[in-house]
Amino acid sequence: MPAFSWFSRLPAPSLALQRAFAVAAVITQAGIAVTGSVVRVTGSGLGCPTWPECFPGSLTPVAHPEFHAFNQWVEFSNRLLTGVVGFVGAACLIAALLVRPRRRRLVWLAASMPAGVAAQAVIGGFTVLTGLVWWSVAVHFLVSMVLVWLAVLLLRAVGEGEGPVRRLVPRPLRALQVANAGVLAALLVAGTLVTSAGPHSGDSKTPRLDLPIATLAQVHADLLFLYLGVLVGLGFGLRASGVDRRIWSRYWWLIGVVLAQGCLGMVQYWTGVPEVLAAIHVLGAGVVVVATAALWTATRDYGPIPAPPTPASGRTADAPATTAA
Ligand code: HEM
Repeated sequence: MPAFSWFSRLPAPSLALQRAFAVAAVITQAGIAVTGSVVRVTGSGLGCPTWPECFPGSLTPVAHPEFHAFNQWVEFSNRLLTGVVGFVGAACLIAALLVRPRRRRLVWLAASMPAGVAAQAVIGGFTVLTGLVWWSVAVHFLVSMVLVWLAVLLLRAVGEGEGPVRRLVPRPLRALQVANAGVLAALLVAGTLVTSAGPHSGDSKTPRLDLPIATLAQVHADLLFLYLGVLVGLGFGLRASGVDRRIWSRYWWLIGVVLAQGCLGMVQYWTGVPEVLAAIHVLGAGVVVVATAALWTATRDYGPIPAPPTPASGRTADAPATTAA
């Protein structure tokens, strides 16, 4: 395609650069969920009451008797951060498109980053225009967690090929991991319901989910126990099948962050959900997703990266396997 010939002549990015972009994607995708929670706990959700403009006729905050400057700037800064996350996502996609030979899985995962940011911009706009209706805030958060998961898969895909998937643990253990991911999804959804009924709506006038917080928090915590139970079962299975140290180190990291997040959840519940703990709990949720996805990627393999085409033949040869991301 002549229009894109200049693009295909650009140099292929190094593995280190691709990894740096993917790590930045993990950090920014999880980070914007945390800054979003800061918007919520500071009651700044409607600091900019319109979207995409902050105020009718102005993209940026303006002095207004009914809208405090602090709330305007908190919400506006979070909107600006979307640009940073979008930039990182675009860098991931451009890097993946320049890799030779082209790797479909890598490109799809990289493309999910900017696509996800675009989707989140629409969902975020919808959230503002509906006055922060609780289910929209919840969807906004959950989509972020899906993007964090995909960013971790992207980071791993940078260092692996496109061969048939090879399971590094017995099939029943993979099934346990699938169950574990399912319970994590339910745990996150339950968390958003606790938030929806809780005190931090993002704006004092926003109607809350009319369900008892104690019951929702109980379901949320019960799902944590289920999650931990599956994780312990997985640990016994891993021990019986003698997996390598890399899988073990990821397993113990996951156990550690889940326990820390669970303790934090209990503390914030018993202390009346202070703002700062609510924001740290969102950070913890992102870290739990990263750790679960990291264990997931460590237990299967798509083979070595294919070597770049040689100038003479235009053909590729098998390259040695790279270390895991
Ligand atoms: C691995 C364990 C846990 C994870 C991954 C997790 C995750 C989450 C998530 C995603 C939210 C919603 C955040 C938002 O919508 O902005 C949330 C909210 C909440 N969680 Fe957890 N949670 C965990 C454990 C716990 C435990 C054990 C408790 C104790 C009851 C707890 C108490 C709460 C409370 C009170 C909220 C509402 C915070 C608010 O109103 O802002 N969490 N959690």
